[in-house]
Amino acid sequence: MSPLVCETPETDWKASFSREFQQASLQHLEEGFILFFPNLSFHLTGDETEFLSPHIVRKSKNVSYSVSNREIKGTVLTKQAAFRIGNLMHRFAESTRGLLYNLLPRYRGSLKQGRTSFRPVEIAGRLTSWRKDDTRLHVDCFPSTPLRGRRILRAFSNVNPAGCPRHWRVGEPFPDLAERFFPKLKTSFPGMHTLLHLLCLTRAKRSEYDHYMLQLHDYMKQDLDYQKNARQDALEFPAGGTWLLYTDQVSHAATAGQFQLEQTFYLPVSAMERPATSPLRILEKMAGRCLA
Ligand SMILES: [Fe+2]
Repeated sequence: MSPLVCETPETDWKASFSREFQQASLQHLEEGFILFFPNLSFHLTGDETEFLSPHIVRKSKNVSYSVSNREIKGTVLTKQAAFRIGNLMHRFAESTRGLLYNLLPRYRGSLKQGRTSFRPVEIAGRLTSWRKDDTRLHVDCFPSTPLRGRRILRAFSNVNPAGCPRHWRVGEPFPDLAERFFPKLKTSFPGMHTLLHLLCLTRAKRSEYDHYMLQLHDYMKQDLDYQKNARQDALEFPAGGTWLLYTDQVSHAATAGQFQLEQTFYLPVSAMERPATSPLRILEKMAGRCLA
């Protein structure tokens, strides 16, 4: 395993953790490590295994679920079957939230749960545009959903029934990444963020932080020389494993694998123990001004 990953033996989604373990987990995550629970499995009930098929999605690569209003998107399943896969995803949403609350009590009052997704399509060989190609190293940010400095903390579980691992590559630390690409990042033109919002191209007004992160994402993915030659480690997350990381900070690429559940959480930078490690603060330091 890469030195960027710390493995933990936990097997129970409702486990309680020692203060030392909680503190170490918090520090590791904020420093840009991946917390890996190789034996923390998310189990599907007998009749839920019928959802382990790439044919349940439309053109999208995943089924998407909102735990707040139980809305499901992206599937061709019948209404009844969609309701059942919603139950599965609701369980995953609750399991991951419980895990994070117990593991990271500092974040408890500040975490906002985003969408849950199920990804039943094999990643390797999937045809897509370079910008949407997640087999290329990148950091996460969302073109239509501005983060305005909030962190993206994600939990992943590999539920592959054949025991196939999920293959990732993990790149250089965020400060190095930011230093490399910062000279290329341009400020937005006056009124740009307001215009995009008025045209309904963004759900809220983008901040300058979003503008910088989107450029960083694109410059990384566009640069084939960087993709090939940048410092990186290959990782395998075995079936039955779960892992957590800040995907806005850890340079990552998912290169192969099928059947994965993912849960997104958002966190304000102010709730972190060490805000200086956040992409927002690192970019602000380089820009010499406030970005969100
Ligand atoms: Fe990503």
